[in-house]
Amino acid sequence: MVASHGDNFDMTNCHSVFYFNFAISKTSFPVYYKSEENSHQMLDEHLQGTAIQSVDDKSSNGRRFYLESYGCQMNFSDSEIVASILADEGMGPTRQIEEADIILINTCSIREKAEESIRKRLKEFRIYKKRKPELLVGVLGCMAERLKSKFLEEEQLVDLVAGPDAYRDLPGLLRKAEDGDRGINVFLSREETYADISPMRLDENGVTAFISIMRGCDNMCSFCVVPFTRGRERSRSSYTILAEARDLFERGYREVTLLGQNVDSYKWQNPETGEVTNFAQLLDMVAALDTGLRVRFSTSHPKDITDEVLYTMASRNNICKYIHLPVQSGSSRILELMNRTYDRDWYLGRIEAIRRIIPDCAVSSDIIAGFCTETELDHQETLSIMELADYSMSYMFHYSERPGTPAAKKLKDDVDMETKKRRLNEIIRLQNQISHRHNQRDVGMVYEVLIEGNSKRSEDMFKGRNSQNKMVVFDKKPGLKAGDYVRVKIDNSSSATLHGNIVA
Ligand code: 5AD
Ligand code: SF4
Repeated sequence: MVASHGDNFDMTNCHSVFYFNFAISKTSFPVYYKSEENSHQMLDEHLQGTAIQSVDDKSSNGRRFYLESYGCQMNFSDSEIVASILADEGMGPTRQIEEADIILINTCSIREKAEESIRKRLKEFRIYKKRKPELLVGVLGCMAERLKSKFLEEEQLVDLVAGPDAYRDLPGLLRKAEDGDRGINVFLSREETYADISPMRLDENGVTAFISIMRGCDNMCSFCVVPFTRGRERSRSSYTILAEARDLFERGYREVTLLGQNVDSYKWQNPETGEVTNFAQLLDMVAALDTGLRVRFSTSHPKDITDEVLYTMASRNNICKYIHLPVQSGSSRILELMNRTYDRDWYLGRIEAIRRIIPDCAVSSDIIAGFCTETELDHQETLSIMELADYSMSYMFHYSERPGTPAAKKLKDDVDMETKKRRLNEIIRLQNQISHRHNQRDVGMVYEVLIEGNSKRSEDMFKGRNSQNKMVVFDKKPGLKAGDYVRVKIDNSSSATLHGNIVA
């Protein structure tokens, strides 16, 4: 399975709403949200710009917002929080931009191309504002945080700007904007986790959902803009995470993905007892809710993933045997320049531990081609680590310098674009071969698959994932529905999908 975002959109890859009772469920708004070929952590290109679907008039006071999301899964998860905050103000989502009173765009800054696409999209909104001058346009997310008031200066069209930690202020910013005051809140918080907000579920299938367990990032990888756009790392209370997972299970969901920029450094201290919960313990607690609830997580950092996490994964059937463990580069010299704080041997040691403790675990990666000073030899080391790690899939990019990052400040972006693209293509080609081999090995195997819904290709077929996060397509059998588990024997595979038949 291969997802490349070298030149296109980049993936990788949420006022005071205080109710702690997650049993209060909000209307869920189906969105064509996941393809048969995308991973849980990042979104496919065609999902970029997905807007929240329309809701019945009953839940809205007549005012409607159109919310379009770009970027990583974390951003889509934030959009579910934004939708919930606005719904609490009586506003309803629409997918028809023409009927919107407010257009919101949740943005991504990870690579230059991502920002360019969003700028283009903003220009397209001008026409709607011309037709309806009272229409408000708001920019949310990472680009809002990165560019701050520059957005208001550069884009006359924009009425409000809200960074990832400012979504509780959206109703206030909207009221101001209605009075003609263009508003901005890009304050980054050390505490905000939106822990008490029950996200409005945007996934279409009612079977799989994402739970944000932490925000921000303290890692300071030299290429990455995230620490600047999403601020300091903070973990959400384990109680609210468990309550959200339990509520989802009771509503029929059968799989949750615990989301964070670096889940392995999850650490929450109970303010009353002083007791600290780490990621392995959290994972175990969520999995202990019910054996019928699958648990996934993303993203792991090679420096932080502990044997305790691996043993926890091995000990419970319902913790999926899949780890997204971005390597970025196979060269220790480049890893040092990237400030990844591990080297090639450390990474391979973690792969070895995964194989030893969880033999049936699939591992996937993020890879950057053409980082500053990268030589042909460094590139060859990336290709060789891909072979050694035997990734089931990878997200592959060429390096894109981001203003303000340590790399932009200290290193020269000296690999020319042609070389970056050539190396990226070699990486993609190799990953294709490795994924193909991976899928071939699955032929003849029987996997437990959680049915997510109809296959895109045929109404007569279901699609679902195995524990290793591979999409499996198979003929329907009467009596089965989305949310059921079935055992499927794999007959053949295409580049990104396994095909099989239900066995008794
Ligand atoms: N250029 C290219 N790719 C990047 N990533 C993050 N920053 C950059 C950048 N400046 C990639 C990394 C990360 C993924 C989310 O995006 O591989 O793991
Ligand atoms: Fe996600 Fe923001 Fe990073 Fe884009 S820049 S991938 S939206 S955290």
